[in-house]
Amino acid sequence: MSEPLLQLEDLTVRYGAGPVVHGVTLAMQDGSVAALLGANGAGKSSTLRAIAGLESAEGRVLFDGQDVSRLPVAARFKAGIVYVPEGRAIVADLTVAENLLLGGYFVDAATRSRRQQMVLEFFPEIANRLRAPAGLLSGGEQQMLAIGRGLMSGPRLLLLDEPSLGLAPLLVARVYERIAAIQQEQQLAALLVEQSFHAAAKLATHAWVMRHGHIVGELDAQALRSREGRQQAIDAYLGARQEAAA
Ligand SMILES: Nc1ncnc2c1ncn2[C@@H]1O[C@H](COP(=O)(O)OP(=O)(O)O)[C@@H](O)[C@H]1O
Ligand SMILES: [Mg+2]
Repeated sequence: MSEPLLQLEDLTVRYGAGPVVHGVTLAMQDGSVAALLGANGAGKSSTLRAIAGLESAEGRVLFDGQDVSRLPVAARFKAGIVYVPEGRAIVADLTVAENLLLGGYFVDAATRSRRQQMVLEFFPEIANRLRAPAGLLSGGEQQMLAIGRGLMSGPRLLLLDEPSLGLAPLLVARVYERIAAIQQEQQLAALLVEQSFHAAAKLATHAWVMRHGHIVGELDAQALRSREGRQQAIDAYLGARQEAAA
């Protein structure tokens, strides 16, 4: 097996008192989609934010074989680690085009324009809204813009924090279809965080289940693809409230 793109070694995040991420160790391959699943408060966002350098953490983050643990956010971003926050954190007062520009701030004009074209092809919904304030977009369009903005920098690893949050099921399916298309075409790696198993399970080829800051379970592609495998994982790790959708 080739060297992993991302490796976490004993990653620990604390805000004051006890850790909310406890010694997380995992590795993911380049060009793959992996998921970090778990209930609200499990420590999923803290893990993603620590990978991006947005939270200080103990332990090591290795990216493409390099220890980036001590690098600031901007350096990790330039290396290709791009965090797309939950809650569609776009800048509401800026236009769609200006939001995209922010994502491609560090790249030259020609590359930026080429990438914007690519983003708009993936997300035609926002292509004719370029001059509209981003705050006027629908929830699904804002999520597309947030992902599109992440793509503008030419990432190698997209960290997607609950892309389905607050979206109606049909839109979740649409956003996930686009993520799949982007991932295939761009040969990107993505680490998805989700509370809901269904969408993530269809795209990811590997998943870890997180509870109270610990990795408590791991699913391979086969377990993720089978309805029984998903239901077993949900029963075991997430409680009976979630049902595995077909
Ligand atoms: N900035 C913060 N300061 C203090 N506690 C936080 C902060 N962010 C998250 N937490 C706490 O850390 C725990 C894990 O949060 P989080 O990583 O956001 O979980 P998840 O994304 O799985 O819902 C929760 O108990 C949450 O309340
Ligand atoms: Mg979260």
